[in-house]
Amino acid sequence: MNTRQEKILKASVAEGHFNDDRTVVAYVDTDKLSETVSSLLQAFPEHFSHTFAAKANTMSNALKMVKDLGMGCEVASPGELEQALRAGFNPAEMVYDEPAKTPAILERALGLGIGLNIDNFQELARVEEILTGKPSRSRIGFRINPQVGAGSISAMSTATHTSKFGVALEDDGNRQALISAYLQKPWLTSIHTHVGSQGCSLELMTAGVGKVVALAEEVNRAAGQQQIEVVDIGGGLPVNFDSDEITPTFSDYANSLSQAVPELFTGKYRVKTEFGRSIFAKNGFIATRVEYTKSAGGRTIAVSHAGAQVATRTVFMPDYWKIRVSVADSSGRAKRGNEVMQDIAGPLCFAGDMIGTERLLPEIEPGDYVVLHDTGAYYFSNPFYYNALTAPAVYGAAIEDHEGVNFKVWRRQQTVNDMLAAIG
Ligand SMILES: Cc1ncc(COP(=O)(O)O)c(C=O)c1O
Repeated sequence: MNTRQEKILKASVAEGHFNDDRTVVAYVDTDKLSETVSSLLQAFPEHFSHTFAAKANTMSNALKMVKDLGMGCEVASPGELEQALRAGFNPAEMVYDEPAKTPAILERALGLGIGLNIDNFQELARVEEILTGKPSRSRIGFRINPQVGAGSISAMSTATHTSKFGVALEDDGNRQALISAYLQKPWLTSIHTHVGSQGCSLELMTAGVGKVVALAEEVNRAAGQQQIEVVDIGGGLPVNFDSDEITPTFSDYANSLSQAVPELFTGKYRVKTEFGRSIFAKNGFIATRVEYTKSAGGRTIAVSHAGAQVATRTVFMPDYWKIRVSVADSSGRAKRGNEVMQDIAGPLCFAGDMIGTERLLPEIEPGDYVVLHDTGAYYFSNPFYYNALTAPAVYGAAIEDHEGVNFKVWRRQQTVNDMLAAIG
């Protein structure tokens, strides 16, 4: 646990944020979040604009904060769209991506002037029908699957040969069909790709973007003018879950991209990005109270309150989504020394509900806290209702000059009644 996290946890414990009904609490370090967004804005030239992938943290305070820091918003469901509008995003700075868009959501996005990434040729026909007699201010283009292959997590790889997303560029006839569609419909002025989310190397990402930019160049040459003006390169910058180090950085990606796809850096295209995990993951963490410790068949187990309800991917796919954990005492102070091999279990009713196994950690005692690192994106913000557990409180935490911590409630601890109403 680093010193910022320790300060936040100690102050939170002292403020009484934990009790028997509030055994899991999550935090976003808002100063670090601002630093992350500044590093993004500085890494790329001014003709790049950055949308935040709302799926990574859909909480209204998360969206409001990145909006105030200068980002737009990428949304991929009717719920995300409404949340982004409520957070105050300008529709012109939003983009809608979803492979299963209904006529109703297409009408809504086009009516509002939200950018639209068309997933397939059937969707193109629907969009054209809607636009007939009802022109839209939306920037519209195709999502392309450049088919450059998978990263290290197949479930997160969206540019495989058979991915469900976008138009598969190398499939028979598709390249020509895409070029014809652009030429026949001059209102198609953008192009989009997203190679994957976590597990993709910079080489794979830039290879995918490069293929899509080559297609844009081909369309523009065939059109005899610059019809495609905007290239949306998606998100997917991987996050390092092994230490506090930020690697790769936004600058690393910008450097690789400028080498591999220099056309994006001349100012000829306006370029959009859709980063999610790399904005929030390392700026958030979860703390959970340890209720009991026990041993079974030689295995030492700390039974905590955080499991699949807040760390769904880690629990169900532990080999791919291993997270760091550390231990604090009952006052929130980091524990050091006396390390023993321990497993950290969650409370859910299945044996695999484990946050970490065989971790060498200071000996955990009942009343201690276990910290789940790098969980600011796709963890506490996407609670899972297995076993009817409530969603934890989330605080935006700002460390003040005099070393105190200012907590802003981002989400109250969900009551049992609210949770039961949500389940129905
Ligand atoms: C279309 C699209 N854009 C952006 C993202 C965000 O990816 P990441 O959070 O890895 O940056 C995703 C994630 O699934 C996505 O599907």
